Amino acid sequence: MSGRLLFLKQFWSQYHTTGAIWPSGSSLANELAYFVEHGSAAANESRRILEVGPGTGTVTHAIIQRLRPLDQLTLVEINPDFSAHLARRLEQEASWQAKAQQVTIHTGPIQDFAVEQPFDLIVSGLPLNNFSVEIVSTILSGFERLVKAGGTVSFFEYIAIRHFKAVVSSSAEKTRLRGIAELLDQFLKNRECRKHAVWLNMPPAWAHHLKK
Ligand SMILES: C[S@@+](CC[C@H](N)C(=O)[O-])C[C@H]1O[C@@H](n2cnc3c(N)ncnc32)[C@H](O)[C@@H]1O
Repeated sequence: MSGRLLFLKQFWSQYHTTGAIWPSGSSLANELAYFVEHGSAAANESRRILEVGPGTGTVTHAIIQRLRPLDQLTLVEINPDFSAHLARRLEQEASWQAKAQQVTIHTGPIQDFAVEQPFDLIVSGLPLNNFSVEIVSTILSGFERLVKAGGTVSFFEYIAIRHFKAVVSSSAEKTRLRGIAELLDQFLKNRECRKHAVWLNMPPAWAHHLKK
Protein backbone atom coordinates (compact mmCIF):
# COMPACT_ATOMS: atom_id res chain seq x y z
CA MET A 1 0.00 0.00 0.00
CA SER A 2 1.32 3.47 -0.82
CA GLY A 3 2.35 5.73 2.06
CA ARG A 4 -0.46 8.22 1.32
CA LEU A 5 -3.14 5.53 1.24
CA LEU A 6 -1.84 3.99 4.47
CA PHE A 7 -1.84 7.42 6.12
CA LEU A 8 -5.43 8.07 5.04
CA LYS A 9 -6.51 4.64 6.32
CA GLN A 10 -4.82 5.29 9.69
CA PHE A 11 -6.42 8.75 9.85
CA TRP A 12 -9.86 7.09 9.77
CA SER A 13 -9.06 4.20 12.10
CA GLN A 14 -6.61 5.93 14.52
CA TYR A 15 -7.56 9.60 14.25
CA HIS A 16 -6.45 10.51 17.78
CA THR A 17 -2.83 9.46 17.31
CA THR A 18 -2.48 10.03 13.55
CA GLY A 19 -3.76 13.59 13.90
CA ALA A 20 -3.61 14.59 10.23
CA ILE A 21 -5.22 13.48 6.99
CA TRP A 22 -2.01 13.83 4.95
CA PRO A 23 1.63 13.23 5.77
CA SER A 24 3.75 16.40 6.02
CA GLY A 25 4.92 17.87 2.72
CA SER A 26 8.60 17.96 1.76
CA SER A 27 8.99 21.69 2.69
CA LEU A 28 7.90 20.99 6.28
CA ALA A 29 9.96 17.77 6.39
CA ASN A 30 13.09 19.64 5.23
CA GLU A 31 12.50 22.40 7.78
CA LEU A 32 12.11 19.86 10.61
CA ALA A 33 15.43 18.33 9.55
CA TYR A 34 17.07 21.79 9.69
CA PHE A 35 19.41 20.96 12.59
CA VAL A 36 20.33 17.56 11.15
CA GLU A 37 21.88 19.60 8.33
CA HIS A 38 22.93 22.77 10.17
CA GLY A 39 23.73 21.45 13.66
CA SER A 40 26.92 22.60 15.34
CA ALA A 41 28.49 19.10 15.70
CA ALA A 42 31.72 18.50 13.77
CA ALA A 43 31.30 16.42 10.60
CA ASN A 44 33.25 13.48 12.10
CA GLU A 45 31.22 13.42 15.34
CA SER A 46 28.65 10.71 15.95
CA ARG A 47 25.19 12.13 16.67
CA ARG A 48 22.24 10.38 18.27
CA ILE A 49 19.03 11.48 16.58
CA LEU A 50 15.50 10.60 17.73
CA GLU A 51 12.44 10.96 15.55
CA VAL A 52 9.11 10.61 17.35
CA GLY A 53 5.96 9.84 15.35
CA PRO A 54 7.57 9.18 11.95
CA GLY A 55 4.31 7.88 10.40
CA THR A 56 4.97 6.85 6.80
CA GLY A 57 8.42 8.47 6.86
CA THR A 58 8.20 11.84 5.11
CA VAL A 59 10.30 13.57 7.75
CA THR A 60 12.42 10.42 8.19
CA HIS A 61 13.33 10.68 4.51
CA ALA A 62 14.55 14.28 4.98
CA ILE A 63 16.60 13.15 8.01
CA ILE A 64 18.02 10.11 6.20
CA GLN A 65 19.15 12.32 3.30
CA ARG A 66 21.14 14.44 5.78
CA LEU A 67 22.43 11.57 7.94
CA ARG A 68 26.22 11.49 8.32
CA PRO A 69 28.12 8.18 8.35
CA LEU A 70 28.54 8.03 12.15
CA ASP A 71 25.01 9.17 13.07
CA GLN A 72 22.45 6.85 14.67
CA LEU A 73 18.76 7.45 14.05
CA THR A 74 16.09 6.00 16.37
CA LEU A 75 12.44 6.05 15.29
CA VAL A 76 9.70 5.74 17.94
CA GLU A 77 6.28 5.08 16.42
CA ILE A 78 3.15 4.03 18.32
CA ASN A 79 1.31 2.55 15.34
CA PRO A 80 2.58 -0.94 14.27
CA ASP A 81 1.25 -0.49 10.72
CA PHE A 82 3.42 2.62 10.31
CA SER A 83 6.40 0.79 11.82
CA ALA A 84 5.97 -2.07 9.34
CA HIS A 85 5.82 0.47 6.49
CA LEU A 86 9.04 2.13 7.71
CA ALA A 87 10.77 -1.27 7.97
CA ARG A 88 9.74 -2.03 4.37
CA ARG A 89 11.14 1.30 3.18
CA LEU A 90 14.45 0.48 4.91
CA GLU A 91 14.55 -2.84 3.08
CA GLN A 92 13.35 -1.75 -0.31
CA GLU A 93 14.16 1.91 -1.09
CA ALA A 94 17.69 2.47 -2.32
CA SER A 95 18.33 5.73 -0.43
CA TRP A 96 16.96 4.19 2.80
CA GLN A 97 18.75 0.83 2.30
CA ALA A 98 22.06 2.69 2.15
CA LYS A 99 21.48 4.01 5.71
CA ALA A 100 19.56 1.02 7.14
CA GLN A 101 22.41 0.01 9.48
CA GLN A 102 22.16 3.41 11.17
CA VAL A 103 18.40 3.25 11.81
CA THR A 104 16.46 1.49 14.61
CA ILE A 105 12.66 1.32 14.89
CA HIS A 106 10.87 1.07 18.26
CA THR A 107 7.15 0.43 18.21
CA GLY A 108 5.32 1.93 21.19
CA PRO A 109 4.36 5.23 22.79
CA ILE A 110 7.14 7.73 23.40
CA GLN A 111 5.84 8.01 26.99
CA ASP A 112 7.21 4.47 27.63
CA PHE A 113 10.51 4.92 25.78
CA ALA A 114 13.64 5.05 27.94
CA VAL A 115 17.33 5.10 27.05
CA GLU A 116 20.51 5.52 29.05
CA GLN A 117 22.18 8.04 26.78
CA PRO A 118 20.34 11.22 25.77
CA PHE A 119 20.00 12.37 22.15
CA ASP A 120 21.69 15.26 20.32
CA LEU A 121 18.56 15.99 18.32
CA ILE A 122 14.88 15.20 18.67
CA VAL A 123 12.47 15.69 15.78
CA SER A 124 8.81 15.20 16.64
CA GLY A 125 5.77 14.79 14.42
CA LEU A 126 3.38 14.17 17.32
CA PRO A 127 -0.09 15.75 17.03
CA LEU A 128 0.16 17.33 20.51
CA ASN A 129 -3.07 19.32 20.09
CA ASN A 130 -4.99 16.02 19.99
CA PHE A 131 -3.80 14.86 23.40
CA SER A 132 -4.85 15.57 26.98
CA VAL A 133 -2.91 18.19 28.93
CA GLU A 134 -1.51 15.38 31.16
CA ILE A 135 -0.18 13.42 28.19
CA VAL A 136 1.38 16.53 26.60
CA SER A 137 3.01 17.33 29.93
CA THR A 138 4.43 13.78 30.16
CA ILE A 139 5.69 13.93 26.56
CA LEU A 140 7.39 17.33 26.99
CA SER A 141 9.03 16.19 30.25
CA GLY A 142 10.19 13.12 28.34
CA PHE A 143 11.77 15.33 25.66
CA GLU A 144 13.57 17.25 28.45
CA ARG A 145 15.02 13.98 29.72
CA LEU A 146 15.80 12.54 26.31
CA VAL A 147 17.70 15.52 24.87
CA LYS A 148 21.20 16.39 26.07
CA ALA A 149 22.25 19.89 27.15
CA GLY A 150 23.02 21.86 23.98
CA GLY A 151 20.82 19.50 21.94
CA THR A 152 17.82 20.60 19.88
CA VAL A 153 14.13 19.66 19.78
CA SER A 154 12.20 20.38 16.58
CA PHE A 155 8.45 19.97 16.20
CA PHE A 156 5.53 21.49 14.33
CA GLU A 157 1.97 22.57 14.81
CA TYR A 158 -0.52 23.70 12.23
CA ILE A 159 -0.83 27.49 12.07
CA ALA A 160 -3.82 28.81 14.08
CA ILE A 161 -5.11 25.27 14.67
CA ARG A 162 -5.66 25.84 18.39
CA HIS A 163 -7.52 29.10 17.76
CA PHE A 164 -9.59 27.47 15.05
CA LYS A 165 -10.43 24.45 17.22
CA ALA A 166 -11.24 26.71 20.18
CA VAL A 167 -13.85 28.63 18.14
CA VAL A 168 -15.82 25.49 17.33
CA SER A 169 -15.43 23.60 20.60
CA SER A 170 -16.98 23.14 24.03
CA SER A 171 -15.67 24.93 27.11
CA ALA A 172 -13.93 21.72 28.33
CA GLU A 173 -12.16 21.53 24.99
CA LYS A 174 -11.19 25.22 25.19
CA THR A 175 -9.69 24.56 28.65
CA ARG A 176 -7.72 21.59 27.27
CA LEU A 177 -6.36 23.65 24.35
CA ARG A 178 -5.42 26.52 26.68
CA GLY A 179 -3.59 24.04 28.92
CA ILE A 180 -1.59 22.72 25.95
CA ALA A 181 -0.79 26.28 24.79
CA GLU A 182 0.57 27.11 28.26
CA LEU A 183 2.72 23.97 28.34
CA LEU A 184 4.15 24.72 24.88
CA ASP A 185 4.83 28.38 25.76
CA GLN A 186 6.66 27.23 28.88
CA PHE A 187 8.60 24.58 26.94
CA LEU A 188 9.74 27.12 24.33
CA LYS A 189 10.29 30.08 26.66
CA ASN A 190 13.78 31.58 26.29
CA ARG A 191 14.92 28.53 24.34
CA GLU A 192 13.30 28.83 20.92
CA CYS A 193 16.22 29.27 18.54
CA ARG A 194 14.33 29.15 15.24
CA LYS A 195 10.67 29.47 14.28
CA HIS A 196 9.67 29.13 10.67
CA ALA A 197 6.29 29.33 8.97
CA VAL A 198 5.93 26.67 6.28
CA TRP A 199 3.15 27.95 4.01
CA LEU A 200 3.76 25.24 1.40
CA ASN A 201 2.15 22.58 3.55
CA MET A 202 -1.37 21.26 3.81
CA PRO A 203 -2.31 22.83 6.21
CA PRO A 204 0.44 25.47 6.69
CA ALA A 205 2.51 24.86 9.81
CA TRP A 206 4.87 26.49 12.27
CA ALA A 207 8.12 24.61 12.74
CA HIS A 208 9.53 25.30 16.22
CA HIS A 209 13.11 24.54 17.16
CA LEU A 210 14.51 24.90 20.65
CA LYS A 211 17.96 24.48 22.07
CA LYS A 212 18.29 23.01 25.57
C1 LIG B 1 0.71 13.93 12.43
S1 LIG B 1 1.40 12.29 12.22
C2 LIG B 1 3.02 12.77 11.64
C3 LIG B 1 3.63 11.72 10.74
C4 LIG B 1 4.91 12.19 10.04
N1 LIG B 1 5.94 12.58 10.97
C5 LIG B 1 4.61 13.36 9.12
O1 LIG B 1 4.97 14.49 9.48
O2 LIG B 1 4.02 13.12 8.06
C6 LIG B 1 1.67 11.79 13.90
C7 LIG B 1 2.46 10.51 14.08
O3 LIG B 1 2.74 10.33 15.47
C8 LIG B 1 2.48 8.97 15.85
N2 LIG B 1 2.19 8.98 17.30
C9 LIG B 1 1.09 9.49 17.92
N3 LIG B 1 1.19 9.38 19.25
C10 LIG B 1 2.40 8.80 19.50
C11 LIG B 1 3.10 8.44 20.70
N4 LIG B 1 2.56 8.66 21.90
N5 LIG B 1 4.32 7.88 20.59
C12 LIG B 1 4.88 7.66 19.36
N6 LIG B 1 4.26 7.97 18.19
C13 LIG B 1 3.05 8.54 18.25
C14 LIG B 1 1.30 8.59 14.95
O4 LIG B 1 1.09 7.22 14.86
C15 LIG B 1 1.73 9.26 13.64
O5 LIG B 1 2.63 8.45 12.96
